[in-house]
Amino acid sequence: MELLSSWCYDGSLPESYVMPPERRPGKLIVPLGKSVPVVDLELHDRNETIQQILKAGEEYGFFQVINHGVSEDLMDKAMNVAEEFHAMPAVDKERECSKDPSGGCKLYTSSYAYPKEDFHYWRDAVTHPCLSLEECIQFWPEKPTRYREVVGEYSVELRKLSCRILELICEGLGLSAGYFSSDLIQVPKIIINHYPPCPEPSLTLGLSKHRDPSIITILLQGHIHGLQVFKDGHWIGVEPLPHAFVVNVGFLLQIISNGKLKGAEHRVVTNSSDARTTISYLVYPSDQTLVEPAKALVNACNPALYKAFKFFDFVTAFLLKPDNTGEAVKELISAPHNRNC
Ligand code: OGA
Ligand code: NI
Repeated sequence: MELLSSWCYDGSLPESYVMPPERRPGKLIVPLGKSVPVVDLELHDRNETIQQILKAGEEYGFFQVINHGVSEDLMDKAMNVAEEFHAMPAVDKERECSKDPSGGCKLYTSSYAYPKEDFHYWRDAVTHPCLSLEECIQFWPEKPTRYREVVGEYSVELRKLSCRILELICEGLGLSAGYFSSDLIQVPKIIINHYPPCPEPSLTLGLSKHRDPSIITILLQGHIHGLQVFKDGHWIGVEPLPHAFVVNVGFLLQIISNGKLKGAEHRVVTNSSDARTTISYLVYPSDQTLVEPAKALVNACNPALYKAFKFFDFVTAFLLKPDNTGEAVKELISAPHNRNC
């Protein structure tokens, strides 16, 4: 499976990238959603911040954060290194991503499920774990030369930001303090996505409609739009705001919150003029962690909508099936429930 960026400039869209009509983005211009809420993390009233995040999590499963404490300079440097990485020749990218004997650093195109896909997606990606930094960094790419330094610093800052946002969510949901300072957040990963210019954006997708199999995901999307959120039967574009982060509720947080917060479905559309590079920071549990609706949120009137499962079983089922909105794990996670009050 050859990387997209190695061959995509010859001007035509191969058949295997043409989506069936009902999944194509079409030529319709999706309105850029001013409506995806923007949360200022430096409000004086902490309670107000919590309420805004919870409301956005319930209604959209998505929000953007500003005044988030990560330096703009670091965000720019991370984006530059990400772009430089994908601009390298394929042989260099492959060499730089094969330093981890356990295969933790992966370079791939479309999705993990490439061999099983009916259709491919217009994206290349590199992913690797980033905690603890000392253990992980030795297996990361060494080219571009500043990759380890910049992505290392970025991952430390994103760890802080993710913990801060999860603390606010924890408080807002009424969970015991420290609920998320556990195995639930011990294996964060970075994915650097790259969507080259595409000859036929109306026929294909950069990423299909999916939920993230994470607790939360924090995305740096740069200035090119492409991310869309599915809400109430419509697609909404997430407006690129300079130096904001896009945060989304992952499927696991939907489960932990017993359905209160929404692991929103989203997709990526391509465009014909500009390459788009994004950096996802996904907060994952360790493999053996048991995930279940938080006990504090379950009672006779609010029975558990999901049953407990091991993260490993969930993510294995989830990632090996293309087009992940949740079908692949339905049986694993669904609990029979009756309201009993
Ligand atoms: C993802 C994702 C969005 C984007 O990596 O899961 O949804 O805009 N990325 O790249
Ligand atoms: Ni996603």
